[in-house]
Amino acid sequence: MHADIKKYIDTHRERFLNELMELLRVPSVSADPKYKEEVIKAAQLTAHYLEKAGIKNVEVCETPGYPVVYGEYIKDPSLPTVLVYGHYDVQPPDPLDLWESGPFDPVIKKTEIHPQGAIFARGACDDKGQFFMHIKAVEAMIATGTLPCNVKFMIEGEEEVGSANLGWFVVHNRERLKCNTILISDTGILANDIPSICTGLRGLSYVEVEVTGPNRDLHSGLYGGAVPNPINILAKMIASLHDENNHITIPGFYDDVVELSAEERALMAQAPHSDEAFKKSIGLKNIWGEKGYTTPERTSIRPTLDVNGIWGGYTGEGAKTVIPSKAYAKISMRLVPNQNPDKITELFKKHFESIAPDCVSVVVKPHHGGDPYVSPLDSPEYQAASEAMEATFGKKPVPVRSGGSIPIVALFERELGVKSILMGFGLDSDAIHSPNEHYGLFNYFIGIETIPLFFDHYVRLVER
Ligand code: BES
Ligand code: MN
Ligand code: MN
Repeated sequence: MHADIKKYIDTHRERFLNELMELLRVPSVSADPKYKEEVIKAAQLTAHYLEKAGIKNVEVCETPGYPVVYGEYIKDPSLPTVLVYGHYDVQPPDPLDLWESGPFDPVIKKTEIHPQGAIFARGACDDKGQFFMHIKAVEAMIATGTLPCNVKFMIEGEEEVGSANLGWFVVHNRERLKCNTILISDTGILANDIPSICTGLRGLSYVEVEVTGPNRDLHSGLYGGAVPNPINILAKMIASLHDENNHITIPGFYDDVVELSAEERALMAQAPHSDEAFKKSIGLKNIWGEKGYTTPERTSIRPTLDVNGIWGGYTGEGAKTVIPSKAYAKISMRLVPNQNPDKITELFKKHFESIAPDCVSVVVKPHHGGDPYVSPLDSPEYQAASEAMEATFGKKPVPVRSGGSIPIVALFERELGVKSILMGFGLDSDAIHSPNEHYGLFNYFIGIETIPLFFDHYVRLVER
């Protein structure tokens, strides 16, 4: 039976690529209102391809924000149901001048890591290329009569801005979203010859801070030395948020962090990792991070605090002598089990306000947040994903906790009581959120081939 699927994929290979390229040409940037029409166009195109794949009851569902695209194929209500989640929105393409080809003008190029070629475009890997694999895999299963159970699709358009309205959608569509498991490809594998399954995601607390000194910008000669410069002060405050061991200094920040046992850490250390390769891949002379933890630990089981942007004063051409009135920064904290994003935001706010000298005023504005997630390894969905990947990659995948966040995964568990399986196929080197994002053709097609096997194994394991 798998031979039929393989044949179908081979026969339709060119079209599968061209259709993805069509979707990649739509600049569905959810963060920037100027792309509004385009974001909606991406939703409609997604719905079109769901319909073309043979999915029924396809609907572009309105929400208070961007629509959720829904569709289903109910083969027999007594069979298990897999809900596929993905997102059709993408990150802004900036900085544009660092792209070698247009971010919304997909091209296929070979790279050292992708000798068979990779599609370069914003969203190629995160997440259009990845959720499109599911549409194509289900198309192949329907066309060859091999879909073993029911499938539902829920593809949203606000993931990259925190999925603010997805909670609303889930609560209002509980019945429609009923399922036995949620299958998501929006994460990665360690390497094309080292398959892995993502078994955890970090949570997130994101804040913006504003520091105000004098009530207007001042001449830095006439006033300099006698007034608080909000940029100098903001820099000092930010620097104080880590100590000499790179521990975060916010009181109570680590209180709820689940420490892993020595056994769990030893198990984690078995996943292949090289600091040399890590440094080389991003042009670093040396690594950096919290004392007492390895690089894979620092990016998965440990919480972080990072400035994502900092601005204020004069940043134009040439030199302007000025003491600005205001300074700003955007700060993200990645969280691990059992940290709570609201609590962490509150702790940050209290601490940040308390360390501000009395000559400036500080405003802390919370942005979005999300809960961390860990998935069990002894579930039928993990087993099914493992067996499916072992068949296509020829190697058993290793479990790896990721550092990224997909806040809706914890929300699904809370609201629907259903766990997700994170079977993604991207690589860290695919440059998601960066210029020249790309997705390997190898990854795209092996994903399309692996998904039907997941369905088969999953149904076999739960029907037993
Ligand atoms: N797909 C990513 C998250 C991801 C990538 C997880 C690779 C694991 C491995 C997702 O689109 C994303 O970028 N999430 C945001 C969070 C969101 C609230 C903006 C993130 O992690 O920054
Ligand atoms: Mn994503
Ligand atoms: Mn993303």
